[in-house]
Amino acid sequence: MGSHHAEGALARRPTAADQQWSSVDRRNLVFQGLGTGEIEAYRADTGQRLWSYQTNTGIATAPITVKVDGRQLLIVSGGNGASLMTLRGWRPFWNAPVRDATPHLMAFELGAHGEPPALTPVPPLPKPLVAATADPVNKGAALYSDLCEGCHGVNLEALRGSVPDLRRSPIPTNAAAFEAVVIGGARLTAGMPIFTELTEADAQEIRRYIIDRSWAAYNAQQGSH
Ligand code: HEC
Repeated sequence: MGSHHAEGALARRPTAADQQWSSVDRRNLVFQGLGTGEIEAYRADTGQRLWSYQTNTGIATAPITVKVDGRQLLIVSGGNGASLMTLRGWRPFWNAPVRDATPHLMAFELGAHGEPPALTPVPPLPKPLVAATADPVNKGAALYSDLCEGCHGVNLEALRGSVPDLRRSPIPTNAAAFEAVVIGGARLTAGMPIFTELTEADAQEIRRYIIDRSWAAYNAQQGSH
């Protein structure tokens, strides 16, 4: 969703299978990335798996090969926010080890050296900066579910590196800043839609819901320690 999500390009070394897939006619190769993090090469004619490499991030996009200055590269974009998988309840379907992986763009070349970025733990949720109100948040919950959840995640659990985790964002703690982003379109060019159909009161309902859920998640985290 934005160039800042790709954290860097790395050369990777396809180890054991070097000989196997370098000896196969390149028109007879099929590459596939998996939601479990592996990038794999198969023989197109027999389906035999020739190579598998754990990239430490889910792969939802199609790998491509390019030739740069005579060098044949396999380019793989990894990250859990790359497709429909971002939506709603899909998150749990991602294989647990890569579910919270950070996105990265990878370049593979025969004989190259490199390691995938390590899986880093998700930092703890910060304590929300503002108090929750006692009023019910049903209206905000319904609006969030209709309009926001598809990108920002069920229960505000955003896929890491895909969109901001609203529980970690200072913007919902400030009414004017929140309205500027949500109904003012302040982040439109960065991929955050403008919601002209929402009134200021609606936006505040959503904001209260976000604060309420941020506290719930924070309290659950503290309780589990
Ligand atoms: C199509 C996907 C999408 C939808 C739907 C969406 N957002 Fe966003 N939102 C984004 C992206 C992408 C960003 C990051 C923009 C940037 O990098 O500044 C963002 C950023 C934000 C931010 C700023 C967070 C920060 O710390 O910078 C807020 C607040 C926000 N969204 C609230 C909402 C609310 C409320 C809704 C529903 C009314 C909503 N978003 C719906 C994609 C979406």
